[in-house]
Amino acid sequence: MEDISEDQWIEWLDRLSENDYLVVDNFISDRLYHKIRSYFDHLMEENEFSKAGIGDAGHRQIESSVRGDFIYWLDRNRDNELSDFFDLVEVLISKIKRYCYLSISDYEFHLAHYPAGTRYEKHIDQFHGRTNRILSVLIYLNEDWKPQDAGELKIYDNNSQVLVEPIAKRLVIFKSNSVEHEVLKTNSGRKSVTGWLLRQPASLGQLFS
Ligand code: OGA
Ligand code: NI
Repeated sequence: MEDISEDQWIEWLDRLSENDYLVVDNFISDRLYHKIRSYFDHLMEENEFSKAGIGDAGHRQIESSVRGDFIYWLDRNRDNELSDFFDLVEVLISKIKRYCYLSISDYEFHLAHYPAGTRYEKHIDQFHGRTNRILSVLIYLNEDWKPQDAGELKIYDNNSQVLVEPIAKRLVIFKSNSVEHEVLKTNSGRKSVTGWLLRQPASLGQLFS
């Protein structure tokens, strides 16, 4: 398990409460990073990823020009290789409940791969029919990321815009219902684990997004 002091959690989560988003470098250890990456790469070799869609149940569309990633939905009970990752998510949730006073009761995560040349247009994560997403959580998995690889996460923060490079072990959290963001066109394969902390138990919704 990652060794994170209570003071450290408080500092991060104060920042999240103040800014609507949070970026933390080296959030996960090398060990956990390699565990997630080797599982990710194994699943890619086995062709377990599917083209991601946009919209909710009944309005599902696959529109590659809007959203170009391929995803694999994780399941704590099946994906035992990632039990350390899920333990960390559960600690994160307990700290957010304590220090941000949010009532989170569930979560959903997927692995995401953006092949070179793909992007995800500006959007918010709480689209029609998915009002239970409270916080969006990303951990990037790209070692040796270079500026020319592009593929930054662009966060629209009131009047300013923040560019976040998807570098390995970096954590990003933002409010799902208000923070507009996009993934700029990536010039290199771009990997992340992406998820949402939920107000109610995940429903069938995840099957459609
Ligand atoms: C998403 C998303 C951002 C990123 O999956 O909804 O906006 O940086 N991802 O991958
Ligand atoms: Ni998003």
